[in-house]
Amino acid sequence: MWKDFPLLPDSASTMANQIDMVWWFLVALTVVMTALIAAAVVGMTIYFRKKNDGRYATQIVGSTQLEILWSGIPFLIVMGLFGWGTAVFVNTQRTPDNVDIDMYIVGKQWMWKVQHPTGQREINAMHVPVGKVVRITQTSEDVIHSFFVPAFRMKRDAVPGRYSQQWFEATKVGTYHIFCAEYCGSKHAQMIGWVTVMEPEEYERWLASTTPGEVPEEAGRKLFESMRCASCHITAQGVSQIDGAAPRGPSMVDIYGREVALKDNRKVVVDDEYIRESILHPMAKVTAGFEPNMPTYEGQLGEDQILQLIAYIKSLKSTGTKQ
Ligand code: CUA
Repeated sequence: MWKDFPLLPDSASTMANQIDMVWWFLVALTVVMTALIAAAVVGMTIYFRKKNDGRYATQIVGSTQLEILWSGIPFLIVMGLFGWGTAVFVNTQRTPDNVDIDMYIVGKQWMWKVQHPTGQREINAMHVPVGKVVRITQTSEDVIHSFFVPAFRMKRDAVPGRYSQQWFEATKVGTYHIFCAEYCGSKHAQMIGWVTVMEPEEYERWLASTTPGEVPEEAGRKLFESMRCASCHITAQGVSQIDGAAPRGPSMVDIYGREVALKDNRKVVVDDEYIRESILHPMAKVTAGFEPNMPTYEGQLGEDQILQLIAYIKSLKSTGTKQ
């Protein structure tokens, strides 16, 4: 019976236990305090009831010691809980440095589109190996969705027009539900899927047996060419503009992750968000030293294509090593 009515979802990620411990502590604290207070109310009602001994109510001044005690103890418990909760929050929200797999997810009415770094694409399904850190960069093509995997204790909104990230490290082989946790229209309840956690060798076999589409950076390279980005932006060191003129836009080599100066003296770090903005709204943050003459590509590129372009730009390193 308890299998069909579980108290908690499966715990299948490194986050699950940390979060559950805080939750169970809160539940235990609540139950104990409720029981103590209820017992005191009932007990005192009986003990201090009016007796026929001729006594009347008297004024009690109170006890400072008692007041300090019953304010101090809860204060310490609550501050301890605050510290503990904050530590778990920071732990679970901050992506570890050793990311093994970079997954891209685009939410859309009413499905989850998953793109593997190795080119595989899935809809409403995601295959991952156990024991690897998976970072998800997600966005939406239409309205706000929320990518929710209860067994991993992870949930974050996928918001149109911006990227959000979350991560997990699965600890248990199995299949776990994906939900959309933000009401997004009439078929919101059907925007569900499954994460399949596999042993690493089995995952390798799955990758090999699934026809990969293009890897994101390769698809991005083709887009870069077909949209004629290269007529203004250099993509390899030592390669000059086709017509030999000075480049009309900043070079894309080594640009990802760097801080660049803008025309209006601001500075910005080149990340996914900034690249996306510059493709769709090129006038928003123009690089210093260049004329604001880039056309907008709004309406010409889907969110998954923009992610491919970003993957390509990320891969442009002067050392030749791809990230
Ligand atoms: Cu997508 Cu609810």
